[in-house]
Amino acid sequence: MERQFSNLKGKEIIVGITGGIAAYKTAELVRELSKRGANVHVVMTKNAMEFVTPLTFQTISGNPVVHQMFELFYGSKIGYIALSDIADQMVIVPATANIIGKIANGIADDFLTTMVMAITVPILFVPSMNTKMWESKAVQCNIEKLREMGFEIMEPGTGDLACGTQGKGRLPTIEEILEKMEDIFTRKDLKGEKILVTAGPTMEFIDPIRCITNRASGKMGYAIAKIARRRGAEVVLITGKTYLEPPRNDIKVIEVITANEMREAVLEHYKDCSIIIKTAAVADFRCRTENCQKIKKEDNEETIILELEKNPDIIAELGRIKENRILVGFAAETENIVEYAYDKLKRKNLDLIIANDVSKPGIGFGSEMNEVTIIDKTGYARHIPQKSKDEIADIILDSVKRILRKRKKTF
Ligand code: PMT
Repeated sequence: MERQFSNLKGKEIIVGITGGIAAYKTAELVRELSKRGANVHVVMTKNAMEFVTPLTFQTISGNPVVHQMFELFYGSKIGYIALSDIADQMVIVPATANIIGKIANGIADDFLTTMVMAITVPILFVPSMNTKMWESKAVQCNIEKLREMGFEIMEPGTGDLACGTQGKGRLPTIEEILEKMEDIFTRKDLKGEKILVTAGPTMEFIDPIRCITNRASGKMGYAIAKIARRRGAEVVLITGKTYLEPPRNDIKVIEVITANEMREAVLEHYKDCSIIIKTAAVADFRCRTENCQKIKKEDNEETIILELEKNPDIIAELGRIKENRILVGFAAETENIVEYAYDKLKRKNLDLIIANDVSKPGIGFGSEMNEVTIIDKTGYARHIPQKSKDEIADIILDSVKRILRKRKKTF
């Protein structure tokens, strides 16, 4: 089973639901929060109950759902005070124009709005409404007020709306909401750094419809990009062809196909970066001749010979020109893992190399998990047992952070 790595684990989360059609999507959010190990308490407004029932949320969260102003909790302690005291974070989803207006203007006439006043932990608003309502002066003015008051506001998504129109106002995806909530709990210890990450496979064409590629899915590189951004770094992700959604919408994603295209993109962007992490599985060879038409299968030929030539070794080139940038490579090995990986680190002038044993089932190429050995310039090798790629990414970034800290001490 996939193990989730999450800053939400063990946290007390209040989910406030208000009366919008997107309220039904909140059930999925509550389920995902519970799966990540959070203890979820749902608070609903009277209008929310026109769209969804407390029973649904009580069943998913495993906690009583609060929807009346004068409910008492924990002996005689008033409900909204009791809940606001234990909360680590609150999210209001969907946040309607009505709730945004009330809270921005200090109105506290039900459990949810009263609790918002008593709470001192971060509160995230996830607005969802018709485009004209979202763009109205009243809503925009109230959103500005909420921002000034220190609340976190997510921008609505764009697309088909429940009212039959198209435009801005959709509830962001559950994954985007969760990522924002994770973000709120994450220390921004990589703020000020700009990180270039490469991910996925490259593809070399044999003819217009056939290609040579490999089994990299991009998951490891996407996880590094996401966690680096979560920790405050600015991130550029250069990716080969994958079937993954962009890890976050505040990461610059550049799509490439071939090793030569990846090289060009890397050389264009590395100069502004302080850290380069090369997770991509780059094809070492490409076809020598470019076949512009599909190669025909001839009846009298049992074999066909493809002549291959070497692709540029991007990381080796970076190793020569990196100056004081931190350069991290990956090594996919099947035997003598640490020895071969360390040899690559030295030959290519890397600061760290992350070795994976790609012959082991369930880790490495395509899987949700990985197991790696992190090797530094001194040859010190630290084995990290099987974990989710997000967690491995976080540990790799800790090692990068250690190098940064040491350098700052030296200067
Ligand atoms: O994408 P996933 O499915 O999540 O799988 C992750 C992964 C297994 C692909 C990843 O963890 C990994 O091991 N990536 C490196 C794979 C690889 O190409 O290893 P290598 O030993 O061939 O290359 C060593 C290093 O040189 C790598 O950093 C690679 O990006 C770089 N390289 C290789 C060849 C080349 N022509 N140019 C390069 O820059």
